[in-house]
Amino acid sequence: MRKKGVLITFEGVEGSGKSTQLPLLSDHLKKLGLEVVVTREPGGTALGKEVRSLLVEKKDWSMEPIAELFLYLSDRAQHIAEILQPALQSGKIILCDRFSDATLAYQGYGRGLPIQEIIKANALVTKGIRPSLTFLLDCPIAMGLWRANQRVLKVLGASPLGVEDRFEKEPTDFHQRVRQGYLELAKGEPQRFCVIDASKSEEEIREEILQEVMRFFGLEDRRWRLLIL
Ligand SMILES: Nc1ncnc2c1ncn2[C@@H]1O[C@H](COP(=O)(O)OP(=O)(O)O)[C@@H](O)[C@H]1O
Ligand SMILES: [Mg+2]
Repeated sequence: MRKKGVLITFEGVEGSGKSTQLPLLSDHLKKLGLEVVVTREPGGTALGKEVRSLLVEKKDWSMEPIAELFLYLSDRAQHIAEILQPALQSGKIILCDRFSDATLAYQGYGRGLPIQEIIKANALVTKGIRPSLTFLLDCPIAMGLWRANQRVLKVLGASPLGVEDRFEKEPTDFHQRVRQGYLELAKGEPQRFCVIDASKSEEEIREEILQEVMRFFGLEDRRWRLLIL
């Protein structure tokens, strides 16, 4: 069907459902006999896991926006060399939970760092690797944060304070800027972005994503449904 690998990314605010949908799509693609790599940023490599803990866990020190930017880019540089490049070269389908768009949305629109400078710095690490298809899971901020909070409660069965909450603790207008930033990026590249209404049910979203990916691969509805359902 294809000769070269392909990078599909999932973007959206906290709690929009990225980590829920990624494995669902992965399962479907595997049933079709495709080779899939599921990964994420930050944290897709050993170095990245360390960087992730600096970035997402609440610590009692502060972090300059520019320091934050370069931590994300360090994670990405390692991730590209270790995971993305080899997988693309061997023709795999990569499903990545956040990528370059998140840096523009969070550090650019959210933190207010200059977008053009971020694009340049990001280009240094991405070596031309760009997603072919990006799902933007869009939902109201309050809904995403509520879900993210529920998720922590589900995992810990206790107070969510202190775990992966550096961004969740940001004021609502920060998250609002990130959401609008993502929508702006999607408007600028409608051929790459597929914006999904993430307030729908998990099942509806799963179906929409699957339809879009099958369209992207040029597969007819009847053919793949027989194989995976
Ligand atoms: N469409 C949905 N409707 C309701 N709850 C959802 C939906 N998608 C995900 N969730 C729940 O919301 C929480 C956050 O989802 P998650 O996939 O972890 O979001 P993200 O990775 O985007 O931060 C999880 O507890 C998940 O079960
Ligand atoms: Mg997630």
